[in-house]
Amino acid sequence: MARIPLVVGNWKLQKTLSESLALVTDLKNQLASVRDVEIGVAPVATALHPVARRLEDSNIAVYGQNCHHEERGAFTGEVSASLFADAGATGVIVGHSERRTLFGETDEGVARKVRAVMAAGLRVIACVGESEAERDGGQTEARVSAQMKAILGAVEPAQVVSLVIAYEPVWAIGTGRTATPAQAQEVHAFIRAMLRDRFAAAAEGVRIQYGGSVKPDNAADLMRQPDIDGALVGGASLKADDFSAIVKAARPRT
Ligand code: PGA
Repeated sequence: MARIPLVVGNWKLQKTLSESLALVTDLKNQLASVRDVEIGVAPVATALHPVARRLEDSNIAVYGQNCHHEERGAFTGEVSASLFADAGATGVIVGHSERRTLFGETDEGVARKVRAVMAAGLRVIACVGESEAERDGGQTEARVSAQMKAILGAVEPAQVVSLVIAYEPVWAIGTGRTATPAQAQEVHAFIRAMLRDRFAAAAEGVRIQYGGSVKPDNAADLMRQPDIDGALVGGASLKADDFSAIVKAARPRT
């Protein structure tokens, strides 16, 4: 089954509104001719709606970086998936390792968010990945398996078209240390096998992105691997030239 690569820039807590608009204006120009790659950016929540407006009629979609699992209510400071949809988002990233390690998100909490994003009719980019200590201790598959089980339990078979998994080894995020293409492919194949167990043939259509120090000079080698279907890009997504080069390194699967 052909899988169209998905490359998304995760801006994290970076960029003012005017900086965000300047960046997407450059991206819109640089990426206008790209076909057969899906492209997205995840700005800070306060910039999301203006960025979505600026990207109307472009080939670049907008994603939230995190959401609350309830739709509305007395939850000071939170944003729900349906409000991201209302503001123009196509999907929401959930379970990023920074959410898990800095804000105490559990596998169960991530599963609640996956359900909420699906219920809002949006795409989920659900992140998984082991820490350095887990990798060194031979626990990579055990950790990723536990994270995946929680995510898979929150997705009905009919919703699988809206599911994207991002494999992001924690030791590679923001460190300049990328997993080798072979290391990443090994875990992507493991994730694909779990998807097959849950969704049978539909698993072949699920995109599995790699994230963790993706740069213009390593993107093509990573995305050439059979189960690496795009990238979730942090630092390098903050510069139009770098992010455009990464998008252009992606090739559709046949
Ligand atoms: P990085 O971040 O590309 O800066 O390593 C990736 C991510 O956190 O999604």
